Amino acid sequence: MKAADVPVQLPAAPPVLLSDGLRLRAYTDADAQLVRQVVDDPLIPLITTVPTTNDPRLIAEYIARQHSRLATGQGIQMVVAERDSDRAVGQAGFSVQGHGRLSVGYWIAPAHRRKGYAAAALALLSDWALTLPGLGRLELYVEPWNQGSWRAAEAAGFEREGLLRAWETVGQTRVDMFMYSRLP
Ligand SMILES: CC(C)(COP(=O)(O)OP(=O)(O)OC[C@H]1O[C@@H](n2cnc3c(N)ncnc32)[C@H](O)[C@@H]1OP(=O)(O)O)[C@@H](O)C(=O)NCCC(=O)NCCS
Repeated sequence: MKAADVPVQLPAAPPVLLSDGLRLRAYTDADAQLVRQVVDDPLIPLITTVPTTNDPRLIAEYIARQHSRLATGQGIQMVVAERDSDRAVGQAGFSVQGHGRLSVGYWIAPAHRRKGYAAAALALLSDWALTLPGLGRLELYVEPWNQGSWRAAEAAGFEREGLLRAWETVGQTRVDMFMYSRLP
């Protein structure tokens, strides 16, 4: 490992992050009802490991995987909940990419979209992630058609750096991605 490749220091457990309206917190078993809301979303199961059926066992395994991500140093995934009621509305987190980079991902359940939750969750998550020791860069990849996603990213302070052509396969299709970042 080169001196410049000191890993980002992740916390031992997910923090609870609070903003005016939101709470980011660890998954609990009760959040199975949140995951159930997105198993038939056209995009979320394609870009995450959310199962495509309501099978309680698969949903429990999905939640267990989110816990294991931090334990294995892969990153952290938290539930986005309303601050006062703790009602779960989505997920936000990041994956460790090496070289001091973290790649951010997020989704909001369809019933709770267009209320500013993605933008607010992304700002809350990123403001905290930017304080982690060893963090050099927060990254975010968005397909150009996904205006709700890149507008949320821009509202949270991410800057578009360019278009990554034919960057990866989503479902059956090779897609371009906008590359966004926020720096400490
Ligand atoms: C993309 C997604 C996270 C947006 O969540 P959201 O909570 O509805 O977003 P917000 O309410 O914070 O909206 C942020 C901005 O995008 C706009 N927006 C939201 N959805 C939009 C849509 N479908 N089309 C156009 N603009 C949209 C909002 O008006 C707002 O604009 P503003 O900054 O001008 O006020 C949500 O649609 C989702 O989970 N989609 C499926 C998973 C996904 O795409 N994840 C991101 C992968 S990169």
